Amino acid sequence: MPISDSSFKSAAVTGGTGAIGKAISRQLASNGYSVTLFSRDEKKSQKSVKDIVSATGNEQVDYQLVDLSRLVSIQDLRCRWSGRLDILINNAGITPKERKETPEGIELQFATNVLGYFWMIQEFKDLLIEFSPSRIINVASYWAGGLDLNDLEFEQRPYSNGAAYRQSKQADRMLTVAFADRLKQDNVMVNACHPGDVNSTLSNNLGFGGHQTPDQGAETPVWLATSPAVKNVTGQYFERKQQVHCPYGDDKQKVESLFQICSQYADEADI
Ligand SMILES: NC(=O)c1ccc[n+]([C@@H]2O[C@H](COP(=O)([O-])OP(=O)(O)OC[C@H]3O[C@@H](n4cnc5c(N)ncnc54)[C@H](OP(=O)(O)O)[C@@H]3O)[C@@H](O)[C@H]2O)c1
Repeated sequence: MPISDSSFKSAAVTGGTGAIGKAISRQLASNGYSVTLFSRDEKKSQKSVKDIVSATGNEQVDYQLVDLSRLVSIQDLRCRWSGRLDILINNAGITPKERKETPEGIELQFATNVLGYFWMIQEFKDLLIEFSPSRIINVASYWAGGLDLNDLEFEQRPYSNGAAYRQSKQADRMLTVAFADRLKQDNVMVNACHPGDVNSTLSNNLGFGGHQTPDQGAETPVWLATSPAVKNVTGQYFERKQQVHCPYGDDKQKVESLFQICSQYADEADI
């Protein structure tokens, strides 16, 4: 594996077994992309691939197992990956009601929702540069805020899954700006979006239902990944396929501080 026939443009979707990720993957497969779900549960992955192949008739759909909360697992995935990559969609997310940690001792929402995005871009950016023009989409949320650079892991503040989630989505939007600045010269476009309000494990844990279908939630990420209308746009935030000003990108010093802190996690994990 993989998987990618080099004649197909290749897209990877993290959390491709979830509500929105599966719909994103199916829509990309419908559009003729070779799609790989980066997911952690083998049974769910097999079922998702089967469903997408049968719905689209596109046989170029597969999965790779990875725990996106752990750098070591992402690095292992990168070693296994050969072939092209044109689109990376960071979409996986988690909202545990209790504070949990990874085996490395990192708070789980920060590890999955923020460092998972950061590490995926760091590990796969060489390929995205090689196959540029290419695109990275960070699935974030309009529900974002409360980021505390001094307490990213909720060690000093009381943990609530809503507060940790809002912080993580603010961080995703800030890191979009940081990576866009770094990758623009290599023709890798990096944008963030709110997908939509969709009924899912993630939203249910936060106490929300969701009034949009997974397919509606997938529309903006897929459009950002594929539309010629945004081929030269980078570092921006979108809702309903519309660019929306994101205040979290304005404070460049804070954006850079977050980027440096995330980089240090990689350094520490490598030691
Ligand atoms: N739903 C909404 O209303 C809404 C609103 C705004 C933004 N969003 C954003 O949309 C994205 C997708 O959310 P969703 O609603 O589709 O959630 P979901 O249905 O709960 O899907 C989350 C996906 O992430 C995967 N995942 C979680 N931790 C992982 C890990 N450590 N390694 C690998 N995969 C992991 C899950 O895998 P398992 O199935 O194995 O757990 C699942 O495939 C998230 O980034 C979320 O912040 C959603």
